Amino acid sequence: MSRPIALVTGGGSGIGLAVAEHLINFYGYRVAILDINGERGQAESSRMNSGSDSCLFLQADAAEYHQQAKAFQQAFEWGGNRLDFFHANAGIGDSDSVYKETNGLDETTGLPKPLDLRIVDVNLNAVLQGVHLARHFLEKNSTPGGRILITSSCLGLYPNHCLPLYTATKHALVGFVRATAPVYTGMNITINALAPNLIETNLMPADIRPLWDRGQLTPMNTAIKALDAIMTNKQLTGQTIELALDELVFSKAPPYSTANTKWMCEQHELWEQVSQPLLPKPAGQNVAKISNGA
Ligand SMILES: NC(=O)c1ccc[n+]([C@@H]2O[C@H](COP(=O)([O-])OP(=O)(O)OC[C@H]3O[C@@H](n4cnc5c(N)ncnc54)[C@H](O)[C@@H]3O)[C@@H](O)[C@H]2O)c1
Repeated sequence: MSRPIALVTGGGSGIGLAVAEHLINFYGYRVAILDINGERGQAESSRMNSGSDSCLFLQADAAEYHQQAKAFQQAFEWGGNRLDFFHANAGIGDSDSVYKETNGLDETTGLPKPLDLRIVDVNLNAVLQGVHLARHFLEKNSTPGGRILITSSCLGLYPNHCLPLYTATKHALVGFVRATAPVYTGMNITINALAPNLIETNLMPADIRPLWDRGQLTPMNTAIKALDAIMTNKQLTGQTIELALDELVFSKAPPYSTANTKWMCEQHELWEQVSQPLLPKPAGQNVAKISNGA
Protein backbone atom coordinates (compact mmCIF):
# COMPACT_ATOMS: atom_id res chain seq x y z
CA MET A 1 0.00 0.00 0.00
CA SER A 2 1.28 3.50 -0.79
CA ARG A 3 2.32 5.81 2.04
CA PRO A 4 0.00 8.69 3.01
CA ILE A 5 0.81 12.13 1.59
CA ALA A 6 0.81 15.59 3.12
CA LEU A 7 1.33 19.07 1.73
CA VAL A 8 2.59 21.68 4.22
CA THR A 9 2.85 25.37 3.30
CA GLY A 10 5.67 27.25 5.01
CA GLY A 11 7.18 23.81 5.59
CA GLY A 12 10.77 25.03 5.26
CA SER A 13 10.93 26.46 8.79
CA GLY A 14 9.41 26.58 12.27
CA ILE A 15 6.03 24.96 12.94
CA GLY A 16 5.49 23.71 9.37
CA LEU A 17 8.91 22.06 9.35
CA ALA A 18 8.28 20.38 12.73
CA VAL A 19 4.90 19.09 11.52
CA ALA A 20 6.41 17.77 8.26
CA GLU A 21 9.21 16.02 10.12
CA HIS A 22 6.83 14.42 12.63
CA LEU A 23 4.49 13.20 9.90
CA ILE A 24 7.44 11.52 8.17
CA ASN A 25 9.16 10.07 11.22
CA PHE A 26 6.18 9.11 13.33
CA TYR A 27 3.28 8.49 10.94
CA GLY A 28 5.17 7.16 7.91
CA TYR A 29 3.99 9.99 5.64
CA ARG A 30 5.69 11.34 2.57
CA VAL A 31 5.49 15.13 2.79
CA ALA A 32 5.66 17.85 0.14
CA ILE A 33 6.79 21.14 1.63
CA LEU A 34 5.86 24.34 -0.14
CA ASP A 35 7.92 27.38 0.79
CA ILE A 36 8.77 30.73 -0.77
CA ASN A 37 12.31 30.44 0.59
CA GLY A 38 14.09 28.18 -1.91
CA GLU A 39 17.40 27.81 -0.16
CA ARG A 40 16.00 26.84 3.23
CA GLY A 41 13.22 24.67 1.83
CA GLN A 42 15.64 22.73 -0.38
CA ALA A 43 18.14 22.23 2.45
CA GLU A 44 15.50 20.99 4.92
CA SER A 45 13.92 18.76 2.31
CA SER A 46 17.29 17.14 1.47
CA ARG A 47 18.00 16.64 5.17
CA MET A 48 14.61 14.95 5.77
CA ASN A 49 14.90 12.87 2.63
CA SER A 50 18.30 11.32 3.20
CA GLY A 51 17.75 8.97 0.24
CA SER A 52 14.27 7.88 1.35
CA ASP A 53 12.07 9.92 -1.04
CA SER A 54 10.05 11.01 2.01
CA CYS A 55 10.11 14.70 1.19
CA LEU A 56 9.53 16.83 -1.89
CA PHE A 57 10.38 20.53 -1.90
CA LEU A 58 8.20 22.84 -3.97
CA GLN A 59 9.28 26.46 -4.14
CA ALA A 60 6.19 28.63 -4.47
CA ASP A 61 4.47 31.72 -3.14
CA ALA A 62 1.33 30.39 -1.45
CA ALA A 63 -0.30 33.78 -2.02
CA GLU A 64 -0.12 33.29 -5.81
CA TYR A 65 -3.07 31.05 -6.60
CA HIS A 66 -1.56 29.41 -9.69
CA GLN A 67 1.71 28.64 -7.89
CA GLN A 68 -0.13 27.02 -4.99
CA ALA A 69 -2.42 25.10 -7.37
CA LYS A 70 0.59 23.79 -9.31
CA ALA A 71 2.21 22.68 -6.04
CA PHE A 72 -0.94 20.73 -5.12
CA GLN A 73 -0.91 19.02 -8.52
CA GLN A 74 2.80 18.14 -8.16
CA ALA A 75 2.35 16.82 -4.62
CA PHE A 76 -0.67 14.75 -5.64
CA GLU A 77 1.14 13.16 -8.59
CA TRP A 78 4.35 12.59 -6.56
CA GLY A 79 2.18 10.83 -3.98
CA GLY A 80 0.78 8.41 -6.57
CA ASN A 81 -2.51 10.34 -6.93
CA ARG A 82 -3.29 10.78 -3.28
CA LEU A 83 -3.38 13.54 -0.69
CA ASP A 84 -4.26 12.79 2.92
CA PHE A 85 -3.31 15.89 4.87
CA PHE A 86 -3.06 19.60 4.06
CA HIS A 87 -1.44 22.00 6.52
CA ALA A 88 -2.12 25.65 5.60
CA ASN A 89 0.62 27.12 7.73
CA ALA A 90 2.66 29.78 5.90
CA GLY A 91 2.30 33.15 7.59
CA ILE A 92 3.96 36.52 8.05
CA GLY A 93 3.77 39.46 10.47
CA ASP A 94 2.09 42.85 10.02
CA SER A 95 2.99 44.45 6.71
CA ASP A 96 1.68 47.98 7.34
CA SER A 97 0.23 50.34 9.95
CA VAL A 98 -3.41 51.32 10.45
CA TYR A 99 -2.29 54.01 12.90
CA LYS A 100 -0.23 56.24 10.61
CA GLU A 101 0.57 56.81 6.95
CA THR A 102 3.73 54.79 6.47
CA ASN A 103 3.45 55.14 2.70
CA GLY A 104 2.69 58.86 2.66
CA LEU A 105 0.04 60.62 0.57
CA ASP A 106 -0.71 60.31 -3.11
CA GLU A 107 0.83 63.37 -4.75
CA THR A 108 -2.11 63.98 -7.08
CA THR A 109 -5.12 63.32 -4.86
CA GLY A 110 -3.65 64.08 -1.45
CA LEU A 111 -5.31 60.89 -0.18
CA PRO A 112 -3.48 58.21 1.79
CA LYS A 113 -1.80 55.60 -0.38
CA PRO A 114 -3.43 52.17 0.05
CA LEU A 115 -2.38 49.88 2.86
CA ASP A 116 0.10 47.15 2.03
CA LEU A 117 -2.11 44.12 2.68
CA ARG A 118 0.41 41.44 1.76
CA ILE A 119 -0.37 39.93 5.18
CA VAL A 120 -3.99 39.36 4.15
CA ASP A 121 -2.82 37.71 0.92
CA VAL A 122 -0.51 35.31 2.78
CA ASN A 123 -2.22 34.70 6.14
CA LEU A 124 -5.82 34.64 4.93
CA ASN A 125 -6.38 34.54 1.16
CA ALA A 126 -3.70 31.91 0.54
CA VAL A 127 -5.23 29.73 3.27
CA LEU A 128 -8.75 29.99 1.81
CA GLN A 129 -7.42 29.17 -1.66
CA GLY A 130 -5.38 26.33 -0.17
CA VAL A 131 -8.42 24.81 1.52
CA HIS A 132 -10.36 25.19 -1.73
CA LEU A 133 -7.59 23.27 -3.55
CA ALA A 134 -7.24 20.71 -0.75
CA ARG A 135 -10.95 19.84 -0.91
CA HIS A 136 -10.62 19.28 -4.66
CA PHE A 137 -7.70 16.88 -4.25
CA LEU A 138 -8.98 15.15 -1.09
CA GLU A 139 -12.16 14.31 -2.98
CA LYS A 140 -10.07 12.67 -5.73
CA ASN A 141 -8.62 10.09 -3.30
CA SER A 142 -9.69 6.48 -3.87
CA THR A 143 -11.47 6.84 -0.52
CA PRO A 144 -12.45 10.53 -0.67
CA GLY A 145 -11.56 12.67 2.33
CA GLY A 146 -8.67 13.54 4.64
CA ARG A 147 -7.45 16.13 7.12
CA ILE A 148 -6.95 19.88 6.90
CA LEU A 149 -5.01 21.79 9.54
CA ILE A 150 -4.69 25.58 9.62
CA THR A 151 -2.17 27.53 11.67
CA SER A 152 -3.99 30.45 13.24
CA SER A 153 -2.57 31.97 16.44
CA CYS A 154 -3.55 32.87 19.99
CA LEU A 155 -4.10 36.24 18.27
CA GLY A 156 -6.90 34.48 16.40
CA LEU A 157 -8.72 34.43 19.74
CA TYR A 158 -7.35 37.43 21.64
CA PRO A 159 -6.43 40.91 20.33
CA ASN A 160 -3.01 42.59 20.29
CA HIS A 161 -3.05 46.33 19.48
CA CYS A 162 0.51 46.13 18.12
CA LEU A 163 -0.45 43.56 15.49
CA PRO A 164 -3.96 44.52 14.33
CA LEU A 165 -3.70 43.17 10.77
CA TYR A 166 -2.21 39.91 12.03
CA THR A 167 -4.98 39.73 14.66
CA ALA A 168 -7.63 40.28 11.96
CA THR A 169 -6.29 37.57 9.64
CA LYS A 170 -5.87 35.02 12.43
CA HIS A 171 -9.38 35.69 13.84
CA ALA A 172 -10.78 35.11 10.35
CA LEU A 173 -9.17 31.66 10.21
CA VAL A 174 -10.80 30.58 13.48
CA GLY A 175 -14.22 31.66 12.18
CA PHE A 176 -13.59 29.83 8.91
CA VAL A 177 -12.71 26.56 10.66
CA ARG A 178 -15.75 26.75 12.93
CA ALA A 179 -18.06 27.59 10.04
CA THR A 180 -16.89 24.93 7.58
CA ALA A 181 -16.28 21.92 9.83
CA PRO A 182 -19.92 20.73 10.05
CA VAL A 183 -20.23 20.63 6.24
CA TYR A 184 -16.79 19.12 5.60
CA THR A 185 -17.72 16.32 8.02
CA GLY A 186 -20.24 15.14 5.44
CA MET A 187 -17.39 15.03 2.91
CA ASN A 188 -15.16 12.95 5.22
CA ILE A 189 -12.83 15.93 5.72
CA THR A 190 -11.75 17.18 9.14
CA ILE A 191 -10.60 20.77 9.61
CA ASN A 192 -8.91 22.13 12.73
CA ALA A 193 -6.79 25.11 13.72
CA LEU A 194 -3.69 25.54 15.85
CA ALA A 195 -3.62 28.69 17.97
CA PRO A 196 -0.03 28.88 19.23
CA ASN A 197 1.27 31.27 21.85
CA LEU A 198 4.83 32.41 21.20
CA ILE A 199 7.09 29.65 19.85
CA GLU A 200 10.68 30.59 19.04
CA THR A 201 10.91 30.36 15.24
CA ASN A 202 12.25 32.53 12.42
CA LEU A 203 9.01 34.55 12.69
CA MET A 204 9.88 35.82 16.16
CA PRO A 205 11.07 39.44 15.74
CA ALA A 206 14.79 39.72 16.48
CA ASP A 207 14.24 42.73 18.76
CA ILE A 208 11.92 40.82 21.08
CA ARG A 209 14.19 37.79 21.63
CA PRO A 210 16.47 39.26 24.34
CA LEU A 211 13.48 40.86 26.12
CA TRP A 212 11.12 37.88 26.24
CA ASP A 213 10.92 35.81 29.44
CA ARG A 214 12.08 32.40 28.22
CA GLY A 215 9.71 30.76 30.67
CA GLN A 216 6.90 32.23 28.56
CA LEU A 217 7.98 30.50 25.33
CA THR A 218 5.80 27.61 24.17
CA PRO A 219 7.96 24.62 23.15
CA MET A 220 7.57 23.22 19.64
CA ASN A 221 6.67 19.92 21.23
CA THR A 222 3.27 21.38 22.20
CA ALA A 223 2.49 21.84 18.50
CA ILE A 224 3.45 18.20 17.99
CA LYS A 225 1.15 17.14 20.84
CA ALA A 226 -1.73 18.94 19.06
CA LEU A 227 -0.81 17.19 15.83
CA ASP A 228 -0.90 13.85 17.65
CA ALA A 229 -4.36 14.70 19.03
CA ILE A 230 -5.56 15.28 15.47
CA MET A 231 -3.83 12.22 14.00
CA THR A 232 -5.13 9.84 16.64
CA ASN A 233 -8.77 10.98 16.64
CA LYS A 234 -10.48 10.90 13.25
CA GLN A 235 -13.59 12.53 14.75
CA LEU A 236 -11.74 15.65 15.91
CA THR A 237 -12.91 18.57 13.78
CA GLY A 238 -13.93 22.21 14.03
CA GLN A 239 -11.48 22.68 16.89
CA THR A 240 -9.16 25.57 17.62
CA ILE A 241 -6.37 24.21 19.78
CA GLU A 242 -4.52 26.77 21.86
CA LEU A 243 -0.88 25.91 22.47
CA ALA A 244 0.08 27.46 25.79
CA LEU A 245 3.45 26.33 27.18
CA ASP A 246 2.88 22.56 27.68
CA GLU A 247 -0.89 22.76 27.54
CA LEU A 248 -3.40 22.08 24.77
CA VAL A 249 -6.58 24.09 25.32
CA PHE A 250 -9.58 23.30 23.14
CA SER A 251 -11.05 26.74 22.70
CA LYS A 252 -14.82 27.19 22.63
CA ALA A 253 -16.76 29.68 20.51
CA PRO A 254 -18.18 32.45 22.73
CA PRO A 255 -21.62 31.67 24.18
CA TYR A 256 -24.59 33.33 22.43
CA SER A 257 -25.16 36.77 23.94
CA THR A 258 -28.93 36.87 23.37
CA ALA A 259 -31.73 34.50 22.42
CA ASN A 260 -32.06 36.40 19.15
CA THR A 261 -28.39 35.80 18.27
CA LYS A 262 -28.80 32.10 18.98
CA TRP A 263 -31.99 31.96 16.90
CA MET A 264 -30.33 33.76 13.99
CA CYS A 265 -27.22 31.55 13.96
CA GLU A 266 -29.15 28.30 14.31
CA GLN A 267 -31.66 28.72 11.46
CA HIS A 268 -29.62 26.15 9.54
CA GLU A 269 -32.34 24.88 7.21
CA LEU A 270 -33.45 28.38 6.32
CA TRP A 271 -29.87 29.51 5.61
CA GLU A 272 -29.30 26.32 3.59
CA GLN A 273 -32.36 26.96 1.45
CA VAL A 274 -31.14 30.39 0.42
CA SER A 275 -27.49 29.30 0.05
CA GLN A 276 -28.36 26.19 -1.94
CA PRO A 277 -26.21 26.81 -5.06
CA LEU A 278 -23.11 27.05 -2.85
CA LEU A 279 -23.66 23.92 -0.74
CA PRO A 280 -22.73 20.30 -1.53
CA LYS A 281 -26.04 18.64 -0.63
CA PRO A 282 -29.77 19.37 -0.60
CA ALA A 283 -31.00 21.67 2.17
CA GLY A 284 -31.31 20.06 5.58
CA GLN A 285 -28.48 17.59 4.99
CA ASN A 286 -25.42 19.73 5.47
CA VAL A 287 -24.87 20.44 9.10
CA ALA A 288 -23.29 17.80 11.31
CA LYS A 289 -23.37 18.25 15.06
CA ILE A 290 -19.82 18.87 16.26
CA SER A 291 -18.92 19.01 19.92
CA ASN A 292 -17.32 22.31 20.77
CA GLY A 293 -14.44 21.25 22.98
CA ALA A 294 -12.16 18.34 23.66
N1 LIG B 1 6.03 31.20 16.07
C1 LIG B 1 5.00 31.67 16.74
O1 LIG B 1 5.13 32.11 17.87
C2 LIG B 1 3.63 31.63 16.16
C3 LIG B 1 2.55 31.90 17.01
C4 LIG B 1 1.27 31.86 16.47
C5 LIG B 1 1.09 31.57 15.15
N2 LIG B 1 2.15 31.32 14.34
C6 LIG B 1 1.89 31.01 12.94
O2 LIG B 1 2.57 29.83 12.60
C7 LIG B 1 2.78 29.79 11.19
C8 LIG B 1 4.20 29.35 10.93
O3 LIG B 1 5.07 30.34 11.45
P1 LIG B 1 6.46 30.00 12.14
O4 LIG B 1 6.43 30.60 13.48
O5 LIG B 1 6.78 28.59 11.96
O6 LIG B 1 7.40 30.96 11.26
P2 LIG B 1 8.64 30.68 10.32
O7 LIG B 1 9.00 32.02 9.79
O8 LIG B 1 9.67 29.90 11.03
O9 LIG B 1 8.03 29.78 9.15
C9 LIG B 1 7.14 30.30 8.20
C10 LIG B 1 7.55 29.79 6.84
O10 LIG B 1 6.56 30.27 5.90
C11 LIG B 1 7.25 30.64 4.73
N3 LIG B 1 6.43 31.60 3.98
C12 LIG B 1 6.14 32.88 4.31
N4 LIG B 1 5.37 33.43 3.36
C13 LIG B 1 5.17 32.49 2.42
C14 LIG B 1 4.46 32.45 1.21
N5 LIG B 1 3.82 33.54 0.74
N6 LIG B 1 4.45 31.30 0.49
C15 LIG B 1 5.12 30.22 0.93
N7 LIG B 1 5.81 30.19 2.07
C16 LIG B 1 5.84 31.31 2.81
C17 LIG B 1 8.56 31.24 5.22
O11 LIG B 1 9.54 31.25 4.19
C18 LIG B 1 8.89 30.30 6.36
O12 LIG B 1 9.69 29.21 5.92
C19 LIG B 1 2.44 31.19 10.69
O13 LIG B 1 1.16 31.16 10.10
C20 LIG B 1 2.42 32.02 11.95
O14 LIG B 1 1.57 33.15 11.83
C21 LIG B 1 3.43 31.34 14.83
